[in-house]
Amino acid sequence: MRSAACREGCMVFLKNCWYMAGWSEELPAGALLARTFLEQPVVLFRRGDGRPAALLDRCPHRVAPLSRGTLVGDTLRCIYHGLRFDAAGQCVENPHGAIPAKACVQGFEVAERDGILWIWMGERTAADPARVPDLSHMARVPAAAQSRGSMPSACHYQLIVDNVADLSHVEYLHATTLGGGAFVENRPVVSESGDEVVIELSSHGRNAPPVYDRFLPQPGVPVDFVNRVTWVPAGLLKLDISVTPLGMPREAGLQTFNAHIVTPETRTSSHYWYWLTREYRQDDAEMTRLRHELMTRVFIEEDKPIIEAQQRLLGETDLFDAAPALLATDAGSIRIRRIMKQLLVREREGRA
Ligand code: FES
Ligand SMILES: [Fe+2]
Repeated sequence: MRSAACREGCMVFLKNCWYMAGWSEELPAGALLARTFLEQPVVLFRRGDGRPAALLDRCPHRVAPLSRGTLVGDTLRCIYHGLRFDAAGQCVENPHGAIPAKACVQGFEVAERDGILWIWMGERTAADPARVPDLSHMARVPAAAQSRGSMPSACHYQLIVDNVADLSHVEYLHATTLGGGAFVENRPVVSESGDEVVIELSSHGRNAPPVYDRFLPQPGVPVDFVNRVTWVPAGLLKLDISVTPLGMPREAGLQTFNAHIVTPETRTSSHYWYWLTREYRQDDAEMTRLRHELMTRVFIEEDKPIIEAQQRLLGETDLFDAAPALLATDAGSIRIRRIMKQLLVREREGRA
């Protein structure tokens, strides 16, 4: 039996926000991309001028998936009986007679920025183009110094957000890959800025974690290390890391800008994308390959099995309804969940 609190916490997704729907190149001209977001089947396609569009992937006639149909100019024809819908979801052709009033399908706002497709699953009129996340600082990085991946995960998206916001697991779960001492000797400082949460951990004067130390111009020297996580509702986590040898200007060190982006698929499954960029040795494609391989191994072999195991143990109970023992290092995820609750209440009450 699911508790009332769980119904609040884990069954309801925030609709009025931008969620990543995929990378731009996953949607070439002429393609139909079927994906489930927030438990709703969606079909994405491009209009003739290249602008992306999205409709509920469910024909209003006899519930065939529209993603099995064909694109006809800017419209989509259902494979089953040929009804044709425009990018707004309105039926524009019924080969069998007059168009019934009910022959329309829900459409969603889609935006494209920095090589990412973003979808707004809530009210179309509430979709604010100004709030499409800005990752232009990463998009500007030369191709040789950036890499991207995806890791679909069998868990509620909030468990992934918790994991990325939690720096304290690095020394344990990633002891042999990313650890190095800094993540337990120093406490993160958590702050809020509007609806965003910033979790920043810094250390001064100790060696950089080994994964960064080896790439310093002179390894083994004491550094200023800053690891900042910025959460943007509901599923974007920006990770900015800087490692600067003591007494040196910031440009003399290493800076990486990474993004982990998660979108609910169902209550127990999530789309999970990651994007790694850096500001040093930007022409070194081999370093990019090695770094991508290492991080992918860390995510897939270390994070993913634990998060999915948490989900199996939780069943349909939200983590915070399972009365967890909380640590000081959980402050970031607690703030995030508190803001999510406020946003859900605002959305339910119809406030902007
Ligand atoms: S199910 Fe789509 S036209 Fe009949
Ligand atoms: Fe991790």
